[in-house]
Amino acid sequence: MFKKILVPTDGSKYAAKAEDLAISLAKKLDAEVIAVHVIDEKLIYPYEVMEDEGNEILSNVHTKGVKEGVVVKDALIFGDPRHDMNKIALKSEADLIVMASHGRTGLERLLMGSVADTTLKTSEIPVLLVK
Ligand SMILES: Nc1ncnc2c1ncn2[C@@H]1O[C@H](COP(=O)(O)OP(=O)(O)OP(=O)(O)O)[C@@H](O)[C@H]1O
Ligand SMILES: [Mg+2]
Repeated sequence: MFKKILVPTDGSKYAAKAEDLAISLAKKLDAEVIAVHVIDEKLIYPYEVMEDEGNEILSNVHTKGVKEGVVVKDALIFGDPRHDMNKIALKSEADLIVMASHGRTGLERLLMGSVADTTLKTSEIPVLLVK
């Protein structure tokens, strides 16, 4: 059980906790981690800037995996971070999503952010929400 753990990350300090938990879980379960960053198609920053940033976020997770001897694959996707996560999980054949309740916006007075909320609502596989 739980052989492919999907970790959506925006590079925030909250996401870092989810990345760490996913990696230590994967180590114990002899599973692999798939780190995913979605470049929001609705944002109007230059694509190259967002691509560079996304690659850096994913390479940080990769480095953490190497330190722990865990295989971390990555996916940089252009789309809608709120609504595409279930599709991404199914396509990557993940069997668990590990994600933080908050991200870059980090409004802790809210129960969780919108990406966490929508993913929890739409996911067809178990979601482990990290706080
Ligand atoms: N573009 C993204 N790609 C991948 N994962 C993401 C992306 N945006 C957020 N996440 C992940 O979703 C989780 C929750 O973040 P979320 O964006 O829901 O909260 P927030 O930034 O505090 O609030 P909001 O974005 O609704 O203003 C975090 O683990 C974060 O890494
Ligand atoms: Mg966010």
